Amino acid sequence: MYTLEVKDLSFSYGKKAVLKNISLNIEKGNFISIIGPNGSGKSTLLKNLNNLYKPDNGSIFLDGLNIKKVKPRELAMKIALVPQNTVIDYDFTVEDIVLMGRHPYKGRFQKEDESDYRIVNEAMEMTNTLYLKDRIITEISGGERQRVIIAKALAQNPSIILLDEPTSHLDINHQIEILNLLRKLNQEKGTTIVVVIHDINLASRYSDEIILIKDGQIKATGSPQKVITKENIEFAYNINVEIDMNKYSNSLYLTPINE
Ligand SMILES: Nc1ncnc2c1ncn2[C@@H]1O[C@H](COP(=O)(O)OP(=O)(O)OP(=O)(O)O)[C@@H](O)[C@H]1O
Ligand SMILES: [Mg+2]
Repeated sequence: MYTLEVKDLSFSYGKKAVLKNISLNIEKGNFISIIGPNGSGKSTLLKNLNNLYKPDNGSIFLDGLNIKKVKPRELAMKIALVPQNTVIDYDFTVEDIVLMGRHPYKGRFQKEDESDYRIVNEAMEMTNTLYLKDRIITEISGGERQRVIIAKALAQNPSIILLDEPTSHLDINHQIEILNLLRKLNQEKGTTIVVVIHDINLASRYSDEIILIKDGQIKATGSPQKVITKENIEFAYNINVEIDMNKYSNSLYLTPINE
């Protein structure tokens, strides 16, 4: 069964149509990348998938249920969203932030217990943020904050994680570390991963499936071999490229070519 099914979804900000007749199916346990030029609608699509925005038309089904009918708390137990830019102005510690991932599981006045702390600790260990535990969230670096927000998503223990450019603030070591972590969650826990990412080479290397979006429409979807073609990329991004196999990663490798 598909874990997420999007049927003929359209969305606009006021009069500006941003997503146009999007239909897609996401298979449980897949690692999916969404690529496409700036402003093509990728973040808007993720927010629709997480029920933060309501589509003008069309519907989204989560494990067969229309997400309009899923309560926010239940949705948060199934889907975690790591947004593109997270602004946190409060003086929370890193541990406080990650603990917020446990909120959906707690009653209104129920305190976190030992098992919550264990899950939070594990999430911080996996994202290499445990050493930041007692630091104030506003006083750490952008890349460190990115990893903390991912730790919070892990603490939610979701079956689907949506991540919007999770590696954009990270150095190359932490980029690979986060993508390896997502792959590990995907392979060991069967977590469905949906990641918006600009690096087409990394997308090809890690994904079962790639969705290419341009101007709010899906231009191609399928295996990296099917989507990352000279024709599709040149059309979507208006550049000239060559595509080879990379002998080290054994995946497609794209090089922009100057005319
Ligand atoms: N809150 C908003 N109100 C009005 N228009 C918006 C809003 N957010 C985004 N847009 C517009 O909607 C379009 C799609 O934006 P979106 O953020 O989904 O693009 P994106 O594919 O994520 O781009 P990027 O790669 O730059 O993150 C853009 O034209 C953008 O200007
Ligand atoms: Mg975006």
